[in-house]
Amino acid sequence: MTNNAKIISINDLKSNDPSYLETIFSIANGHLGVRASNPVNISDTAGTIVNGFFEISEIVYGEKAFGYAKNNQTIVKLPDLRQIKICDGQQNVFHRSELKAESLDMNNGVLVSTYKLTNDLGKSVELTVKSALQQANNQVIGLRYEIKPIDYTGRIKIVKHLKAISDGEETDDPRKSRTVHTLTYEKHDVNSKSEIVKITTQISKMYLEMAIYTPAALEQKFELTDGKTINFDVIGLVGEINEPVEFTDMPTFEEVIKGSSEFWEEFWKNSEIKITGDDSLNQAIHYNLFQLTSSTGRDGKTNIPAKGLSGTGYEGHYFWDTEMYMSPFFAYTNPQIAQKLIKYRYSILEASKKRARELGVAKGALFAWRTINGQEASAYYPAGTAQYHIDADIAYAIDRYYKVTDDKQFLENYGFEIVLETARFWKNFGSFSEIHGKRKFCFFDVTGPDEYTAIVNNNYYTNRMAKFNMGFAVDLIDEFPEKARELGVTDQERNELANISESVYLPYDQIKGINQQDDSAFEKPIWPFDTTPKDNYPLLLHYHPLMIYRYQVNKQADTLLADFLFDDLSKEQYLREYDYYEKITTHDSSLSRSIFSAIAARIDLKTKAYDYFMDTVKTDLVDLQKNTADGLHVANLGGSWLTVVNGFGGLQVKDGLLTIDNHLPDEWKKLTLRLQYLGRLLQITYTNKTTQIEVLTGASIKIRVDGTVKMIQA
Ligand code: BGC
Repeated sequence: MTNNAKIISINDLKSNDPSYLETIFSIANGHLGVRASNPVNISDTAGTIVNGFFEISEIVYGEKAFGYAKNNQTIVKLPDLRQIKICDGQQNVFHRSELKAESLDMNNGVLVSTYKLTNDLGKSVELTVKSALQQANNQVIGLRYEIKPIDYTGRIKIVKHLKAISDGEETDDPRKSRTVHTLTYEKHDVNSKSEIVKITTQISKMYLEMAIYTPAALEQKFELTDGKTINFDVIGLVGEINEPVEFTDMPTFEEVIKGSSEFWEEFWKNSEIKITGDDSLNQAIHYNLFQLTSSTGRDGKTNIPAKGLSGTGYEGHYFWDTEMYMSPFFAYTNPQIAQKLIKYRYSILEASKKRARELGVAKGALFAWRTINGQEASAYYPAGTAQYHIDADIAYAIDRYYKVTDDKQFLENYGFEIVLETARFWKNFGSFSEIHGKRKFCFFDVTGPDEYTAIVNNNYYTNRMAKFNMGFAVDLIDEFPEKARELGVTDQERNELANISESVYLPYDQIKGINQQDDSAFEKPIWPFDTTPKDNYPLLLHYHPLMIYRYQVNKQADTLLADFLFDDLSKEQYLREYDYYEKITTHDSSLSRSIFSAIAARIDLKTKAYDYFMDTVKTDLVDLQKNTADGLHVANLGGSWLTVVNGFGGLQVKDGLLTIDNHLPDEWKKLTLRLQYLGRLLQITYTNKTTQIEVLTGASIKIRVDGTVKMIQA
């Protein structure tokens, strides 16, 4: 293990499968992502990914129906910026390569990869590639190639160009990306020092320019002698979508490193988290936060793809993952980013209103389950569009942002409208029914977060979240009456929303004494776990969905996620629910274990909390789901932070007060974390005996610490 929590090296990893390593060592800056592929033997899985740059293709259904999603949106794989050709004086290419060492320094964002390169004459040189991305001006990558002799000395020729890469292979795995064959490449402004390639998508009609520049020449000859290292620097540019790139103020490699270091230094100042007692965990949590932040679009026009910018899995789409798993970290450490993520949702609000109409709902907005441009891209509606809960998830994230920042202006100008339009959706989508002799508001034919249970009535999570969404809308109508009028809210609408929110039906099983996942959940037989071979997980790759749907079996936390968010159960009920749902959950989704860990921490199931956390925090580092090669599980990266902070750290905002409860695992000596709350930077230190809070910047503040309200002096 590397003796530094913020450096990860190949020796820390169990697998050295090349496409797995490409993902693990990928670097990104919210705009562009670069997989750490071998620069001289470009693989099928290599390439650059630009957040929001996608191609469209028609979704071909065997049997179509009204309102089905029309088009795929597929993130495009672009030329590999690190690719290079190195030859000897006789044009023998050093084309065989072996990765010797690789490490990513999260202090400054620099990736260092070292290869032994060999040509057909059996002669070798060592190539080290240093790569770093600018984070502030996020179009820029700095590359330094260092070449040293192993047993070859003499003339060396370096050739550096941008080249189209392989489309990859078609696959049946729904978590992978489809391939795109409709790109055109056009090189222009080519000279000895630089070149620009313009890449155009035929159907979505987007273009992007990528460029490389080197102070000397893109094709160069050097004399390699013993004891000498040749340095070759290249600066790459990846423009904004539909904008040309310009070679003005090109930084040097050193300047790129400096910019990157400054960004990460500032980042860690606000987000530091330190687990004392387990170095490998400490390293893993730093890795997760580093990659989560790298993956995140910060311009209000893009968002966080489910696989970040580390791979093309899930086609670069944005899901509810952002609001429920990733944005909490930003709300509490870097609220400007959390705000930008909400702004993206605002930018697709009109498309979401249209979608609601397609679903036959007269008023309000329905956000697409998976999308880049706002239009629904899920071709399988039972586990896609039917997950209406995404609307309330977005409203929940807005509430969280508001609670943590008190940013009234943003709420009035952006957040409120989203909350209102989603609340309007629920009101017009649901209906009153008579349940156990009472008039209750119900939602029929919905799918909750658990994708192994589809199209059910009154999914507890959905109902609970919709209730919250409508209640929140009412609070905002009362808080911003003028804006409410501007948005067309009448007293009647306000009162109806309030009444419906009060009347939402929440299924509860009296005999079991637990919240019930949906109306028919407990009537179904339990999945035959005893006779299911281990190799048949994840079930989604081995059983027809209809077979899975007719059993009680969960892919991921569902009712328990609602419990985690609202945290209003007695400990006894928590324990009963945990016990029940744990037995039927496969955790086939990486969004599951973090929630099981966090709840277990809160209710003192210490071993479970710790074991689930170990899997969560290292999901990608140990390739737990066996598909990290397709990209990082970014929701889970955020989930691991949730577990530490909201689980072990017991942090929540309750009744307007920041609340902290110490549930430190016995295995840890100390946990220190930093976060922002109402304009302050706080540092919280937990030990097995004490919880200490410091206000590092900003004014004194009242906080509820382990049950007692205290004034924490600045
Ligand atoms: C999960 C969803 C998630 C999606 C993208 C699926 O496997 O079940 O909850 O949104 O992956 O991460």
